[in-house]
Amino acid sequence: MELTVRAPAKINLHLGVGAPREDGYHPLVTVYQAVGLYDDVTARQASDWALGVSVPDWMDAAAVPTSGDNIVDRVADLLAAHHGIERTGEVHIAKAIPVAGGMAGGSADAAAALVALDRLWAVRTPDDDLLALAAQLGSDVPFALLGGTALGTGRGELVEPVDDRGTWWWVVVPADVGLSTPEVYRHFDRMFPDAPSEPVPADALLQAIAEGDAWALADALHNDLEAAAIDLRPELGALIEAGEEAGALRGLVSGSGPTCVFLCGSADHARSLAGDLASTGHPVVLAANGPVAGAHLVSYA
Ligand code: C5P
Repeated sequence: MELTVRAPAKINLHLGVGAPREDGYHPLVTVYQAVGLYDDVTARQASDWALGVSVPDWMDAAAVPTSGDNIVDRVADLLAAHHGIERTGEVHIAKAIPVAGGMAGGSADAAAALVALDRLWAVRTPDDDLLALAAQLGSDVPFALLGGTALGTGRGELVEPVDDRGTWWWVVVPADVGLSTPEVYRHFDRMFPDAPSEPVPADALLQAIAEGDAWALADALHNDLEAAAIDLRPELGALIEAGEEAGALRGLVSGSGPTCVFLCGSADHARSLAGDLASTGHPVVLAANGPVAGAHLVSYA
């Protein structure tokens, strides 16, 4: 048996971050959107465990954790222990989501692997158990299972679907070198020692989604980690300005960065902005729409 599960990247349309909790995590009020950039996890039956990764030419292969250190190894351990079985399988991750980019690429791999191994091992884990295992693997993993547009609270792991009838178009500009999420959070703590314990609520953003208006959404986009990411990588500020000057409705750092995303008014607008940004020295510029589905089976044989 061989099967492939696909899981999407995320953008945080709203990322309200509060002062760190006792466990070191930051309380969040976030609105996630899954966008059409995907990693694929393929799993086939085998007598022991093997994991491989492939990346597109433009991605730094050395930046991807290899077998043994990859989050997918932890997925296999956790799901196998949950069912009291051995982990087995030959698993391959085909990456397209920027690594350490603020788009939850590792979380997408974890969500895809959970769904793939659940099916490969025929263990039929109930959805609530899958979500609980996902939350143990990382704050963004439950959202990568769910997809669509969702409100995230807690440390981001408590997810609730948001009714989103829109089709939103984004231009995505990854950076050559990733940023470490913990490092960006630490920098946020240094820059904002008086951050409130309650994160900024997402009401304005949710209202804009309900209206379905791209200009209203542009106005409401909010990311409390943006200042920290730009302080660590000042070139991101210049990129956002360049994208807005080139006609984006709004540019924003994605999550903890360094990927920047630009909201566009239509598919044509996104294609043309992507072409403009590519011609100004950004080797990789992608266009993607959201919301799209969470981790889902795409082939089975
Ligand atoms: O949950 P996850 O493993 O993805 O988080 C990675 C790191 O990001 C954490 O170890 C923590 O440093 C930081 N983080 C945080 N607050 C959150 C989510 C992540 O401080 N809500």
